[in-house]
Amino acid sequence: MTSLEKHLDERDLARSLRADVREGLAATPKRLPPKWFYDARGSRLFEDITRLPEYYPTRTERAILTENAQEIARITDAKTLVELGSGSSEKTRLLLDAMLERGTLGSFVPLDVSESALLEAVESLNSAYPGLAITGVVGDMTRHLRHLPDGDGRVVAFLGGTIGNLVPSERSAFLGDLRAVLHPGEWLLLGADLVKDPGMLVPAYDDAAGVTAEFNKNVLHVINRELAADFDPLAFEHVAVWDPAHEWIEMRLRSVRDQVVRIKELDLDVSFAAGEEMRTEISAKFRKARLAAELAASGFALRHWWSDPQDWFGLALAQAETI
Ligand code: SAH
Ligand code: TRP
Repeated sequence: MTSLEKHLDERDLARSLRADVREGLAATPKRLPPKWFYDARGSRLFEDITRLPEYYPTRTERAILTENAQEIARITDAKTLVELGSGSSEKTRLLLDAMLERGTLGSFVPLDVSESALLEAVESLNSAYPGLAITGVVGDMTRHLRHLPDGDGRVVAFLGGTIGNLVPSERSAFLGDLRAVLHPGEWLLLGADLVKDPGMLVPAYDDAAGVTAEFNKNVLHVINRELAADFDPLAFEHVAVWDPAHEWIEMRLRSVRDQVVRIKELDLDVSFAAGEEMRTEISAKFRKARLAAELAASGFALRHWWSDPQDWFGLALAQAETI
């Protein structure tokens, strides 16, 4: 039996997509919000990205988890593991194995906005971990944290560097909201990609095979389908640039010609000039000290920090403090 709790239904998704698209396309420069990348096709394309030679974050984080999962299990004595933006939960199995071996873990609660990815993950985890209570939550981590099961001994994993996809104001609001639903002493396990040579960063977001370009353009397919729009994905180019002032990668879609896109369900015509770029996603890169300061500002104390030998990716274990 597969157990899913839904806090986002079709109507809810449609309503927030409409609002996001209307607002983002009226802004200067135009922007589209990233959570709309992840329909079933988008989630599959992301899984393809994780296996690209240029995309180092997934395998680096997996190596750090392989090395340190037992210590994480020992320090936290997790009774419940919650995972935000869980996707396939593939790396998370390393944590589940270590926490089950330690004998403390009773339940796993993955939360994701992508119902298809979540369903697939929960079905596969149910057969791999028959003794574990698994409840998938379809929800938006920036809005639905209060629906997470209450308890004690919870560890919240937020992996993959997805924290970097929130803009700074969303990031501090998110960390504050997360702190507010935790009890003092509970844990946040946060995977963060680190600042490094742009010569390595840019190809990770602009791979030779063009998978990331397809992923970026998937947002246009989603809007075409959901809002009866007529974006021509071939009339936009994928762009990934390193912004050294903000220390983030910015993903954009650049219009290759002058064009007008009709978004029927919004009764909206949107003009794009040749060369005009709209922002679809940022992926912020971190430094340990800055992350520790941001965590502290939200009521989390950084207790442990693990990295790979090259310092490409960081895994932070922070504890909710009394506030
Ligand atoms: N944790 C996995 C997947 C990372 S990709 C890994 O480390 O490989 C980012 C995941 O976050 C996707 O599965 C996407 O569907 C989900 N996601 C993006 N925005 C979200 C939001 N606002 N709320 C919940 N999940 C979200
Ligand atoms: N969390 C991933 C990251 O920032 C998401 C991601 C990978 C992504 N590649 C992308 C998002 C390309 C948009 C476009 O690394």
